[in-house]
Amino acid sequence: MRHSPEILQRRLSSSGAVLAFGSHMTFIDPESMGASIVNHITGRKYTIRRPSDLDEGPTIVSQIVAICCEPEVYDWIFREPLAGGPYTEEKAEHWLRWAREGWATGSHFVFAVVDDKGQLAAACDIKSNDPMAEVGYWASQDHRGVMTNTLKEICSFAAKAGFKGLFAWTKSQNLRSRAVLERAGFVKVPSDREAHERFELLLSSGDKEE
Ligand SMILES: CC(C)(COP(=O)(O)OP(=O)(O)OC[C@H]1O[C@@H](n2cnc3c(N)ncnc32)[C@H](O)[C@@H]1OP(=O)(O)O)[C@@H](O)C(=O)NCCC(=O)NCCS
Repeated sequence: MRHSPEILQRRLSSSGAVLAFGSHMTFIDPESMGASIVNHITGRKYTIRRPSDLDEGPTIVSQIVAICCEPEVYDWIFREPLAGGPYTEEKAEHWLRWAREGWATGSHFVFAVVDDKGQLAAACDIKSNDPMAEVGYWASQDHRGVMTNTLKEICSFAAKAGFKGLFAWTKSQNLRSRAVLERAGFVKVPSDREAHERFELLLSSGDKEE
């Protein structure tokens, strides 16, 4: 049986770790952070963290810039909005501020994935607290094999938090991104957006009443 939002709120509150957001009774438990992810290809272990829990300063900013300037990430995500311009440190700092604000206000949820040396490997976000919310992600080529398992874990957080579903837009030719979504259980649905595919995953909390 699904928890009602009130039961979910009480249960999470009792851990002292609840953040309650928006008008949609959506909750993400920060204690979920620290979940361990295994890279499917290498077997290496990673941890999911809130960006606000990462060490501040130039190191994290340069790691974000380095990944976002990798050709695969830059070409699929940033080339068009930046009109071919560079992904700069200012962009990374802005992204970090946006990520931190999301957790502070509950408007959106950004998850950073760090390796066993504390190096940023990937990021995934839930872009709103709407019941059916959009997800997005990028991962360094140096950590190929981490994203599907990360997305699965985030879907599980989202289900427990009360999201009804998640969706993603991919450019039609972005086969690697489509494959991530399909491996995580998303299905392609009709899309009215030119040159883009829409994928959706309906969620159920899966929790049992105690
Ligand atoms: C798309 C992207 C996130 C994929 O990251 P990734 O870490 O390589 O993705 P995965 O974890 O799915 O790993 C891919 C490989 O591991 C395998 N794999 C990973 N997890 C797996 C699992 N649970 N079961 C089976 N195979 C798995 C896949 O088969 C795939 O192998 P292949 O490359 O030989 O085909 C990354 O390439 C990227 O950031 N691209 C640019 C940005 C982008 O497109 N973002 C999405 C915008 S919509």
